[in-house]
Amino acid sequence: MADWSSAGDSTRAVHAGQEPDPATGAVVPPLVLASTFAQDGVGVPRATFEYARSGNPTRAAFESSLAALESPAAPAIGLAFASGLAASDTLLRTVLRPGDHVVLADDVYGGTYRLLYRDWGVVTDQVDPTDLDGVRAAIRPGLTRLVWVETPSNPLLTVSDIAAIAELAHAAGAVVAVDNTFATPVLQKPLGLGADVVVHSVTKYLGGHSDLVAGALVVPEGELAGRLATNQNSLGAVAGPFDCWLAMRGIRTLGVRMAAHCAAATRIAEWLVERPDVGEVRYPGLASTPGHRVAATQMSGFGGMVTFRPTGGAQAARAVAEATEVFTLAESLGGVESLIEVPAAMTHLSSAGSRRPVPHDLVRLSVGVEDVEDLVADLDQALAHAAAAAR
Ligand SMILES: Cc1ncc(COP(=O)(O)O)c(C=O)c1O
Repeated sequence: MADWSSAGDSTRAVHAGQEPDPATGAVVPPLVLASTFAQDGVGVPRATFEYARSGNPTRAAFESSLAALESPAAPAIGLAFASGLAASDTLLRTVLRPGDHVVLADDVYGGTYRLLYRDWGVVTDQVDPTDLDGVRAAIRPGLTRLVWVETPSNPLLTVSDIAAIAELAHAAGAVVAVDNTFATPVLQKPLGLGADVVVHSVTKYLGGHSDLVAGALVVPEGELAGRLATNQNSLGAVAGPFDCWLAMRGIRTLGVRMAAHCAAATRIAEWLVERPDVGEVRYPGLASTPGHRVAATQMSGFGGMVTFRPTGGAQAARAVAEATEVFTLAESLGGVESLIEVPAAMTHLSSAGSRRPVPHDLVRLSVGVEDVEDLVADLDQALAHAAAAAR
């Protein structure tokens, strides 16, 4: 297998883990659906694979492709799961025991709260991850096993300083997990900044075409990697081969897609800022967005997610989201098609009552790769429609 460690991200996205099939020369890794593999002798598998929950060649290719992107130089493993939440669940079950303490950023995907706040004897404290003194105060040395951040976060686009938080957590012996779904490894590499494990909803940018549900963990080789790999098999919430194959197809274009998402999102955020009928606009690339300076140091681009709050309030937010024609009103994000939603009423219903509930007037955009002026025109007509409806 070639060494892609010094290649650029886009080269690695196309090639690492995805070399031509040695048996046939097929330039695309084959989709292997087999659930079991012939053995050459009792307990002598032909090529390490025995049973597809434990390992499958298509899944293995996807896992090494993602690991090569997240951790170009240091050896790391990828682990693929049936969904982002299945990946998170396996991580939580691996590092936590009843009585343990978790410090959770107070602005994370709604499903992550739901997962942590089930009735299982783990104590979770939420903190504002941008307040480092608050993070330090929340960590209980000897008791805090895990510090979890998502950066940029869903949906408020809060930016956490990964290196600073890792330093605080490691001083207390805690594991640092970073949900890198919004940034992807093309824009941000948390392991290089001190994180111990990266979490992905592969459903989003890695897949990139809104046609699969999957998740992944990436972790440096070592003791934690071994325990996670064991639990991937023991708990069994693995990604199926076809989803892994689709995810690899998505990864091949990750570099160009992220560049397109970043360019279009920047244009839209700057356009929204000028609108009198729009209040706060958040995009990590805007100097006015809190966290911009940290984002500029730890990210190589600011992503494709933008949020804004129409001055007309929650009613206007709903009206805009229901009036777009190029942006589809739908949950999820990270696909080639632009999506719009109102998180408080859709993806983040479970954040109600949390420390940082999502404002009811917040509109979230997942900016796709359509012609950006078509997207701008679409938002223009939708905002005009919302204003007319309010009159
Ligand atoms: C940031 C983030 N993390 C994790 C998840 C969970 O992923 P999945 O829906 O693939 O289970 C989501 C889903 O929206 C997400 O946005």
